[in-house]
Amino acid sequence: MHLTKEQERILNGEYGWAKARALQVIVKVGEALGAEKLVRIVHAHVSGVSYNNIGEPGLRFLQEFLEKGAKTAVYSTINPGCIDLMNNSEIIDQTLYHNQLKINNALENMGFSPTYTCIPYYHRPPAPKEHLAWGESNAVIIANSLFGAKTNREGGPIALAAAITGYTYYSGLHLDENRIAKKRIIIPKEISEKEYSAIGLWIGYNIYDIPVIEFNREKPSIYELKLLLSSAAASGKHGLIAIKDVTPRETYSHDIDETIELEQGDYIDLIGTPPSIEESILGYIGCPHLHPCEFVRIYQIATRYRRVRNNNGLLISIPPFFYELFRQEINDLRTKGIDIAFGTCPIVSKLTKQYDYLVTNSGKSCFYMSRIHHINTYIASVREIIDLVMEK
Ligand code: F3S
Repeated sequence: MHLTKEQERILNGEYGWAKARALQVIVKVGEALGAEKLVRIVHAHVSGVSYNNIGEPGLRFLQEFLEKGAKTAVYSTINPGCIDLMNNSEIIDQTLYHNQLKINNALENMGFSPTYTCIPYYHRPPAPKEHLAWGESNAVIIANSLFGAKTNREGGPIALAAAITGYTYYSGLHLDENRIAKKRIIIPKEISEKEYSAIGLWIGYNIYDIPVIEFNREKPSIYELKLLLSSAAASGKHGLIAIKDVTPRETYSHDIDETIELEQGDYIDLIGTPPSIEESILGYIGCPHLHPCEFVRIYQIATRYRRVRNNNGLLISIPPFFYELFRQEINDLRTKGIDIAFGTCPIVSKLTKQYDYLVTNSGKSCFYMSRIHHINTYIASVREIIDLVMEK
């Protein structure tokens, strides 16, 4: 791999152990992937920071980097951890609270911005063609597909190393030659809110090349695209799905070898079957974390209901910065028995109780919750979720 003089100096330890070690990791991975050089990044987003997932070894790894002088070299953000940062949730298990705070402290002391969200683009929207090193599959696919930025799906250690050095390896989706759509997918004309997640899951399961998606109707909303893209990135390995008239045209090209006209019958089974009223249901909204506009819509619907039915739960997961924006609305929702969790989600956490069913608008959370928490799943619209778990 060709390295600049400055990169050689970093590797030789002139900027300290932590930076040298971090760059070694990136160079090793880059060489294994055939990268010819490194590229400067403007934003690192680190995932894999839940104590529930990485435990003591992960915490010690981060603390060692901090003790040996690691500092972020670029703007760097943090994915959700395993606790409700307001320590108020009754659905998210808070027993790992102090352990998670040690991880958070290590990252914040290195210079990471305390975002604790999987929508880092809300804090700093990337520009087209900007190079990033992001972990978190949903953030990555949105960065590439909606913003036209360039990032691979990084694991936690690589994103951390990129944050400390300001570089990543120049391969994969950083190169224009790897941003070529091979399949054209035509989406049915009439699709409902919950079908976006099911279509995303179908694409993840069935399409292995980069596709370009065409909608036979007016442009879908960002909310609908978030559901589709995050679901596809969960059930498949996608880091980029081009969306006609949405993805900046200069950030991908075409070489189509197949056109697929998707029909409802192809993906409808992925929605699942609705639970019966006797079953205990966890309604969940907030995967990926909500945008403020999505929160306002949920608030407007939920305030028409009296409270969450006994035996059910309704969990909303949001970024910590919402607390200042929506203090009153959050209190109103809590008085109705709605559980609001800040800076976390049930996929990276433990739950305090086992439910029979998860009902959610997110195909991504269905994919993971059925595997991690062994729960039946059903994809529903926001209105249907609230109607199933709350009483008027
Ligand atoms: Fe975010 Fe958790 Fe879903 S990190 S994308 S809410 S799995």
